[in-house]
Amino acid sequence: MIAKKNKGFKIVPYLPEHEQELLQIERLSSQGFMVKLETVRSRFLSRAELFEDHTAFVAVDPNNKVLAGVTAAAAPVRINGELQATGFGFDVIVDPSMRNRGIGRELATCLRKRFFEPKGLMSQFTTLRAGNLTMLHLISKSYRNTFLYEFLYLTFPTARVMRVEDTALGAPAFGVSLFSDADKLSQYYEVTENGIGLWHTHQVYQLKVKSVNPVLSGGLWLGNRFVRTNKYVPLVGSTLKTTTIFNLTLENIHTLPDVSLQLYKQGINYMQICCQPNDAIYHALQKSALNAFSHYIVSTQQLDPEVPLTLDVRCL
Ligand SMILES: CC(C)(COP(=O)(O)OP(=O)(O)OC[C@H]1O[C@@H](n2cnc3c(N)ncnc32)[C@H](O)[C@@H]1OP(=O)(O)O)[C@@H](O)C(=O)NCCC(=O)NCCS
Repeated sequence: MIAKKNKGFKIVPYLPEHEQELLQIERLSSQGFMVKLETVRSRFLSRAELFEDHTAFVAVDPNNKVLAGVTAAAAPVRINGELQATGFGFDVIVDPSMRNRGIGRELATCLRKRFFEPKGLMSQFTTLRAGNLTMLHLISKSYRNTFLYEFLYLTFPTARVMRVEDTALGAPAFGVSLFSDADKLSQYYEVTENGIGLWHTHQVYQLKVKSVNPVLSGGLWLGNRFVRTNKYVPLVGSTLKTTTIFNLTLENIHTLPDVSLQLYKQGINYMQICCQPNDAIYHALQKSALNAFSHYIVSTQQLDPEVPLTLDVRCL
């Protein structure tokens, strides 16, 4: 008990009064390397609230100053045709000045002991960017056994005409769907007549561009003037509004260029699609993608890349 007191923080259940401090910490923690992005949203729980069963915890100092927060939910995953209830941990954020003191690890343990295990969610996972070594380290310390499953985020600027290439490959093993028909979600998505689901990620959060590495903009110096040559790389100060595609199949993939155009007309500047490296979706679309970022599902159960796996779009 004494050791706990000496840590200089304690973990408490989230309360609305923590909200503004959590959002401030999130704003301070820009993500990305070549393009630095700041998360903009009105509530720290904007993502968590989309799940039927969710929770949040906060780390506070002895004066109740908020140092960190984390959210979690019971999320369905379909593995080899069977829906499984799993524990999904996400949106963990520690004040930059308080990192590397064990707060992130204690939050992970708290989720396990106070949410996942009491609810019988014995299999647990999170998703993260392949380069987030801190998170990988943290998870491997918090759990005895964890397994990595790789997938890609492809990003498409809707301002650019999209091409879908023919592919001889069969149906992909990895997919994205929405495993809920809750009324509260109806404002967040729509489904086209060809069955493609459009998840309006921009209604949950938006990303503001803080800085862009000139190498990426493909710019060049003319005299003393810097000229951008890649107009699809976002401008500093602009806001990225993204829609995430779900229920994409090899039957409806050819309607994506129309979907992209419609999104452009609605002012949504990016569309994102997840796939496995080198699957049929990747080969059909990669030439039109602005980038392909490798991500991991980090799970307590081993996930075989050959076995069909469908994630809920709310987990992306
Ligand atoms: C990821 C994050 C939550 C970690 O929180 P934290 O409180 O600093 O983590 P902890 O102090 O509990 O560290 C856990 C382990 O990671 C290690 N670690 C911490 N910072 C590290 C770094 N920069 N590089 C490598 N390992 C690191 C620690 O050494 C510790 O391992 P140890 O027990 O062997 O010492 C925090 O860095 C953060 O808020 N990052 C930005 C937001 C983010 O990336 N969220 C995750 C999105 S999926």
